[in-house]
Parts: sequence; C-alpha cells; structure tokens
Amino acid sequence: MTHRQQELRLLCVGGARPNFMKLAPLLRALRADSRFHALLVHTGQHYDHQMSGAFFSDLGLPDPDFYLGVGSGSHAQQTAEILKSFEPVMLDAKPDAVLVVGDVNSTLGCALVAAKLCVPVIHAEAGLRSFDRTMPEEINRVLTDAISDLLLVTEPSGLVNLEREGIDGAKVRLVGNLMIDSLRKHVDQARQRRMAERHGLAPGSYGVVTLHRPANVDKPEALQGILEALREIAADVPLVFPVHPRTRAKLPPVSTLDGARLRLLDPLSYIEFLSLMSDAAAVFTDSGGIQEETTVLGIPCFTLRDNTERPITVEQGTNVLAGTTRDSILAAWRKHGLRRPGARTPDLWDGQAAERCLQAIEAHFLSGR
Ligand code: UD1
Repeated sequence: MTHRQQELRLLCVGGARPNFMKLAPLLRALRADSRFHALLVHTGQHYDHQMSGAFFSDLGLPDPDFYLGVGSGSHAQQTAEILKSFEPVMLDAKPDAVLVVGDVNSTLGCALVAAKLCVPVIHAEAGLRSFDRTMPEEINRVLTDAISDLLLVTEPSGLVNLEREGIDGAKVRLVGNLMIDSLRKHVDQARQRRMAERHGLAPGSYGVVTLHRPANVDKPEALQGILEALREIAADVPLVFPVHPRTRAKLPPVSTLDGARLRLLDPLSYIEFLSLMSDAAAVFTDSGGIQEETTVLGIPCFTLRDNTERPITVEQGTNVLAGTTRDSILAAWRKHGLRRPGARTPDLWDGQAAERCLQAIEAHFLSGR
C-alpha cells in the first residue's frame, strides 16, 4: 500500500464500550483533516449490540476498517487473541502510528504489537493511576504508557504520575478529556430522549447505579454488601440500575431484586444512558468515565471504590469515594447526600480535546517532516 509522504497514516483502536466515546470525536477530527489518513480497528472485545453496535450508531462512528472478533475470555486468552489478530492488520495497513485510548485489554494488546514492530504508539487518556495493581486497568495503563511515544493526558495528576515514572516530558501533552467532547456534543439530544419519563420517573427524583468492576461483582460477599447498601438508599431515593453483562451473571435472581424502588434494566446505549444520567439526582458507580461525566454535569457521584485514578473529580468535581462495603457506602450517602457545593468543571474539559489531540499529533509527527 502506498500513501502520500505528508499524510500521517494512523490506525485507531477501540475494543470495549468505554473506548468508543473517546474515539468518536478524535476520528471525526482526524478524518476532517487532509494531513491524516485514519483507519479504525475494532478488536471485538465487546461484541453485543448493547455493548458495542448501539454505541457506534449513537456516536456516529463509521464501520470499522478492520474487525478482529477477539470476544471474551480470561485476561491471558483475550489479550493473546488481540496480539495474534492485530499483528497481521499492522503488517497489512503499514501505519505510521497506532492510536489507542483508555485502559482496557485492547489498549495494551494493540500498543504492545505496535511497539514490537517499532511503530510509534499514541495513548489518549495517558497517565491516570489508581495505584492499585489488583485492577486489570491499572496494569494496562502503566504498561501502555511505558511503551507509548506520545502521551495525551486528561488531567494534571497524569503529568505528575508520568514524570514520577521517568517518562520524558517531551512526549507528554495535557489535552483535556475526549469523553467530555462526546458528552458536550450529545447531551442536548440525550435530554430530548426523556429516558427518565419513559420509566415513569420525574427528572431529579431518582438515582442511577452502574456496577461492573471484578472486585465488586465477582465475589458474592462483596456484591451482597453493595446490594444491601443500595436497597437502603433506594428507600430514600428510587434507583435505576442498567446492568452490565458481567454483573448480570453474578446477581441473585432478578425477581428478588427488581422492584419499584430499585429497578433493573438491560445495558443502555450511549444516548439512553446519558439521558438517564443527566436527569438524575445522584449516581452510584464503580465506572471510571462516569466519575468524569457526572463532574461535568454537576451531578453528585458516589464512587463505589476505595480509590480513583481520576482525582480531579474528587478535588474539583462532584465525586465522593464511598468505598465498597455496606457501611462505608451508607456512611458516605448519609454524610454527603445530594449536595456538592463548590464543584467545578476541570480546565480543558471543554469539548475541544480532539482538536488539541490533533495539534499534539501534528507537532509530534508532522512538523519538520
Ligand atoms: C472491560 C474493561 C473495563 C471497562 C469495561 C466496560 C478490561 C480489562 N476491562 O471490562 O475497564 O470498564 O470493559 O464495560 O479491558 N460480555 C458480554 N457481551 C459483550 C462483552 C462482554 O456479554 O459484548 C460479558 C462476557 O461474559 C465477558 C464479560 O462480559 O466475559 C466481561 O467482559 P470483558 O471484556 O472481559 O470485561 P469487562 O468486565 O466488560
């Protein structure tokens, strides 16, 4: 395959649900700029319509140029499938650089293949650290950053973390938050979808729950404690809970849980979830990205974890670390309730992160070419 000398040929990789809202604004900006030739690879780590296809249509993502179909498996199996199936794509497409986002197994797998072929890696959402190596995402973050050539950072803590790990500052740029580009683009459309009303709930009268971290859902005792806390909170404020497939497989029979005050739903599309979240009074979650989205929406967020790799959402935003036990979650709920005085939106979470990513890529790869 040949390509014009001045055009930077990029393979952009997505694989799992949280990747797609970061890729969409970036791909749109890259494809609107003739200096770049951007191809999309979907690893197929997430493959259900509800976990993948619905996100492509809501976000206006184009069909992938390459679909790897890696599917589910243990970490070793899934990562091995990603390595094996991405290498031939690299050899075929001959990119000038590979762009990966976030912290999922697809992020690390594709970055590793590229680095071993001596193709530069661009990592968007670099530098975040929970300092908890039992989280699979933390391993993915540390290793991806170690082999990346351009590290695009969402919040200042990322700069500090990368410097501490000895990463050359010339490779690092604070660009803001791509996920918030997607949120700002779609929030009006999402509000018009009126998901709360469709479920018979008045805006501002309910909480939204999401739960999928292995540490919270894979061990029955851990999941039980969280569910007990949620049942008690639901007596104060009704809760709506779109259930991730990993969690669905671990929950007690739905009939014993689902009710008027704690309502279980199938996973929602991007716009449907944004609609439900943007009208919520509070959110209870163990997701990473939702901590950021609630900060921008100004909605109180209780993070059902002991740590966060996104400290700015606690320091400046609406996020509170509520821990993972029944007692810690209820204590946080009773202490903080629905108020978050003084919360503000972090700098550069302004809907323009994709443009700054392009400038950083241009400066790194094209200036002086
Ligand atoms: C992955 C990411 C996590 C991210 C989450 C968002 C890693 C290490 N973890 O976790 O960071 O927050 O995605 O969802 O990459 N399944 C389906 N349909 C699908 C995909 C998965 O039913 O389309 C089920 C399968 O039973 C699978 C399980 O969900 O075994 C878990 O999927 P997996 O990709 O292993 O990890 P997630 O828990 O989704």
